[in-house]
Amino acid sequence: MDIQKAIADRRTIKKFKQDSIDESLVVSLLEKAKMAPNHRMTEPWNILFIGKETRVELKHKTDFGGAPIVFAITSSHGKTEVEHSENLAATACFIQNFLLLAWAEGIGAFWSSMGASQAVKEKLQVPADADITGILAIGYPEEIPAAKERADIQTKISYLK
Ligand SMILES: Cc1cc2nc3c(=O)[nH]c(=O)nc-3n(C[C@H](O)[C@H](O)[C@H](O)COP(=O)(O)O)c2cc1C
Repeated sequence: MDIQKAIADRRTIKKFKQDSIDESLVVSLLEKAKMAPNHRMTEPWNILFIGKETRVELKHKTDFGGAPIVFAITSSHGKTEVEHSENLAATACFIQNFLLLAWAEGIGAFWSSMGASQAVKEKLQVPADADITGILAIGYPEEIPAAKERADIQTKISYLK
């Protein structure tokens, strides 16, 4: 799929088909996503697949829309505050790479920020020196919502002489 089409058509998916996804396909997409930019080559992302028992314990309000696979993407803090924010930015790039690659394979995703909670962080045994940048539920979409409109980019552009 053309990159422009993947960017334009990708949607957050909140309801998934029951069909399973081959985990090796997911790993191959993560392998490609790793080419994301990251300052000082910190490669701050780590992926934690969340099994059925742990998933139940998370008590997500829709059980992640019935997605066949749920995983957390964590981001190491690094050594300084600057590195911390750079690492978060790099991990977000990694996630977006993954989302677009997955979409091109017909796989949709729901990005939940529930990992921001300390209780979830503890449940997933994520070390104190890392953030959960997102919990991703992925699967084949049951429903694809319409695109949400964005502001004209001209309203976001300014210039300094
Ligand atoms: C960092 C981040 C956290 C998000 N957390 C949630 C969330 O907790 N719950 C949710 O419904 N959507 C969450 N989303 C998805 C956004 O709501 C979604 O991207 C937005 O509504 C635009 O829709 P689209 O992705 O279909 O274009 C999150 C997205 C990002 C980037």
